Amino acid sequence: MDIIFYHPSFNAETWIGGLQQRLPKARIRQWTPGDDAPADFALVRQPPVEMLQGRKGLRGVFALGAGVDDILGQLRQHPEMLAKEVPLFRLEDTGMGRQMQEYAVYHVLGWFRRFTEYQQQKVQSLWKHLPNYSRTDFSIGILGAGVLGQSVAESLKIWGFPVRCWSRSPKDLPGVTSFHGAEQLGEFLAGSQVLINLLPNTPQTEGILNRNLLSQLKPQAFLLNLARGAHLVEDDLLAAIEAGEVKAAALDVFVREPLDTSHPFWTHPDIAITPHNAAVTLPDEAMDYIAKSIAILEAGETPGGLVDVNRGY
Ligand code: NAP
Ligand code: GLV
Repeated sequence: MDIIFYHPSFNAETWIGGLQQRLPKARIRQWTPGDDAPADFALVRQPPVEMLQGRKGLRGVFALGAGVDDILGQLRQHPEMLAKEVPLFRLEDTGMGRQMQEYAVYHVLGWFRRFTEYQQQKVQSLWKHLPNYSRTDFSIGILGAGVLGQSVAESLKIWGFPVRCWSRSPKDLPGVTSFHGAEQLGEFLAGSQVLINLLPNTPQTEGILNRNLLSQLKPQAFLLNLARGAHLVEDDLLAAIEAGEVKAAALDVFVREPLDTSHPFWTHPDIAITPHNAAVTLPDEAMDYIAKSIAILEAGETPGGLVDVNRGY
């Protein structure tokens, strides 16, 4: 079995060594431009078109992350890049659920207990009690009820916040109020004090976090964008904060990454920023998952994480 590996920033030596331990019979190589030898499986992030196009023997592609918008975006531009019969798999959880929980709980508690505002008061040596929020009013709305959305919902339920989620298809999640489809989006938003975005980036969801959507949240809402920069219309967030519709935001992802040093988000007092690392790919968990998936494929079955290319996630 031949496996090719390409990632623009991961250490190829670590990955190839780790995969080799898990798949001792496989021949694993780093793909470099000009390599057009056959391969059974490709492990990729932002693959150059020539890595996949016309690759002889290809039986499966594994994305080295949860989102596949990089690969599918390229596929829309170059439909010949991947033969229709070659399945594309993505990472499901592999330790990202726990990381998203940490991120979401940190910010939700910070906003709920007003720690971020107290931090701003500290800078002014200001001793002043701010009124407490009511826990039952501090409802959390999660856009996307997939692997990561459900994981975040679980972690916030524990703190007693009312949790609601919105997805494409109906869900029945214990202790979570579920909404689905365009027709229920308004009702979902109207009851959300905190909005957490964990949707995939698809042509249907691009730009979904716009002024119109933000204005439908409870007044003085909070926004947590943990999914993709393309979901947020960045100027609309600034306008929504200016208008008091949104009180604060924490953003991990941006339209252009790295975020330009002159971007107004950097100096905005009500916007927190991290450099797209809310949930990173953990090599050991990811390699275990991919090695297991390859074994399942070798046994003639289909592993988890199969991407529906037409649906876009
Ligand atoms: P997932 O399991 O595929 O879940 C996606 C959810 O979004 C599903 O509930 C799906 O609905 C819903 N959805 C998709 N399109 C929709 C639409 N048009 N309308 C309403 N709901 C829609 O994905 P995941 O593993 O949770 O990951 C979510 C995203 O997180 C990834 O795509 C990636 O972009 C992002 N991510 C970011 C980081 C980071 O570090 N910032 C790390 C990992 C992942 P159904 O359940 O009905 O299908
Ligand atoms: C990271 O953003 C991922 O999609 O895994």
